[in-house]
Amino acid sequence: MDITAKSKTLNLKLDVEAIRKDFPILQTTVWGKPLVYFDNAATSQKPFVVLNAIEEYYKETNSNVHRGIHYLSNKATDQFEQSRKIIAAHLNASPEEIIYTRGTTEAINLVAFSFGEAFIKEGDEIIVSQMEHHSNIVPWQMLCERKKAVLKVIPITEEGELKLDGFKKLLSPKAKLVAVTHVSNTLGTINPVEEIIEAAHAKNIPVLLDGAQAAPHMKIDVKKLDVDFYCFSGHKTFGPTGIGILYGKAKWLNEMPPYQGGGEMIRKVTLDKTTYNEPPLRFEAGTPNIEASIVLAKAINYINQIGLDAIAKHEHELLLYATDKLQKINGLKIIGTAKHKTSVVSFVVEGTHPSDIGMLLDKQGIAVRTGHHCTQPLIDFYKIPGTVRASLAFYNTFEEINIFVKALNKAIDMLK
Ligand SMILES: Cc1ncc(COP(=O)(O)O)c(C=O)c1O
Repeated sequence: MDITAKSKTLNLKLDVEAIRKDFPILQTTVWGKPLVYFDNAATSQKPFVVLNAIEEYYKETNSNVHRGIHYLSNKATDQFEQSRKIIAAHLNASPEEIIYTRGTTEAINLVAFSFGEAFIKEGDEIIVSQMEHHSNIVPWQMLCERKKAVLKVIPITEEGELKLDGFKKLLSPKAKLVAVTHVSNTLGTINPVEEIIEAAHAKNIPVLLDGAQAAPHMKIDVKKLDVDFYCFSGHKTFGPTGIGILYGKAKWLNEMPPYQGGGEMIRKVTLDKTTYNEPPLRFEAGTPNIEASIVLAKAINYINQIGLDAIAKHEHELLLYATDKLQKINGLKIIGTAKHKTSVVSFVVEGTHPSDIGMLLDKQGIAVRTGHHCTQPLIDFYKIPGTVRASLAFYNTFEEINIFVKALNKAIDMLK
């Protein structure tokens, strides 16, 4: 059995204490205090099943993929392709539609370049939103600059929800792609992606979803969503760093030129002309991150064994508990109060700077993120210097929230 915790029960209640034993880093101390890790949106911690699989790969399998005829090379290739199948099944996609990338950022850059080369011309419009991570803004700005296209922005409400009326007005014949985040990393807002996709498709406009903050928390079914491109990062999904996934509908991938040139992505090379491989290999030039690709499937299996429904339920209860406690603190304002949220609470406290609070929390063993969270246009919208962000995962507890709130009160007292 991959998981040491007996976490799945019929009433969706997690055995969090047992789960925590799967994560060695959660047993460590920081500045002499037990670690409270509330920076899961930046990166998540790794269970033994992931840590052991990394070591196992290098001890027993390490070899290059798709190239050799020897035993180890075949073993590595089998595991690499088996992992692709597991990830495809997890997303309800075909393995040919799953491209290994370095992360969400590279996945979006790949689409911006390759889709952009094939389908974007002068005067076309790309639609993003005010709440995007920089990695879902900058690649499109670069594309717009290259192609003389225009970036359009979906406005948001003060609560941190997309203004859907404003969005629908942007769906003109010039619009050629919608690229929005499934879940906001700064606000926790879960966007109404079904409605967005339906409205865009009604005008024949494809949709890319940035799933970096959704994949660790909820079941993603790309067929049901009918989304054109979907991407996420392994390191935020309890897997290794340096691996990410781009799902693309076959109809688009087949029409898109390669992103990078090199080994693996070719069919035949002569000095006069090169022909390219089929997707997904067409988009995987060079030696991939073999170990991380293989191990990502272990992380995916791990969260599936716990159960994403049980995870979502526990995280929602944590969110409600933390929100309630924080709201009671004098001068504290929560940024991002959407109706549908993942377990992210961003806030500012009157008369204090987020980074001062972050430093004082760190000294009490608590890891949170402070600043603009790579969403400067969003932070500008709220006219604040940044936020303190507590982002929770399924291994976090109510007791940790109590410790956090007590430490936060102490930090505020020291700063005022
Ligand atoms: C919503 C969102 N998109 C994209 C990214 C970029 O992910 P990565 O740095 O793993 O490529 C992040 C990382 O924080 C994110 O939260």
